[in-house]
Amino acid sequence: MLNGSGKVRTAVLVSGGGTNLQAILNARGEIIRHAEISLVVSNRSKAYALERAKAAGIPATAISAKALGGREAFEQELQRILEIHKIELIVLAGFLAILSPDFTRRWDHRILNIHPALIPSFCGKDYYGLHVHEAALARGVKVTGATVHFVNEIPDGGEILLQKAVEVLPNDTPETLQRRVMEQAEWILLPQAVETVAAGMLADPS
Ligand code: GRF
Repeated sequence: MLNGSGKVRTAVLVSGGGTNLQAILNARGEIIRHAEISLVVSNRSKAYALERAKAAGIPATAISAKALGGREAFEQELQRILEIHKIELIVLAGFLAILSPDFTRRWDHRILNIHPALIPSFCGKDYYGLHVHEAALARGVKVTGATVHFVNEIPDGGEILLQKAVEVLPNDTPETLQRRVMEQAEWILLPQAVETVAAGMLADPS
């Protein structure tokens, strides 16, 4: 367990623009001191998050479930690459695929996810990206926010680690609300959660 480097080798899984990945990269050496971002994996080859990883000099690759013939083959290839890079912690940062119960059990309490709402509100199947903020605006909530949680076999159902509230403004659109939730919650919570979990793993490597 752990590689003796004093840091937890961490992989970030992405699907899109990678602003949460960028927040993690920007936090290295300041908020994040006990995790080393060793690998970025995208399930979409065109994800700009891959460009962000390459610009930071971090090994980055794309794995296509479609090209490999489905989720099982995707997860086998993902596991193979994670083992090659000796990964100990996985962070889902705008990652839009649902991982199987087998995979999440294998990585129990070793996968973090950022969700752009205050779980248990506006979460679960079909609540991702802008859909989350569309639902919050449709319901008329005055406060929303973001949640970091461990990933288990239930989509957005794992143990909650951190949450941060964000005000909904009268003229918000899904896009303006998403941006505020990213800036005021997601990009703050995720680096904090990575550091807390990594430091905890080093303190208690059980
Ligand atoms: C954001 O809405 C984030 O809340 C969700 O995925 C979207 C894109 O995130 N997790 P990113 O810019 O790719 O990190």
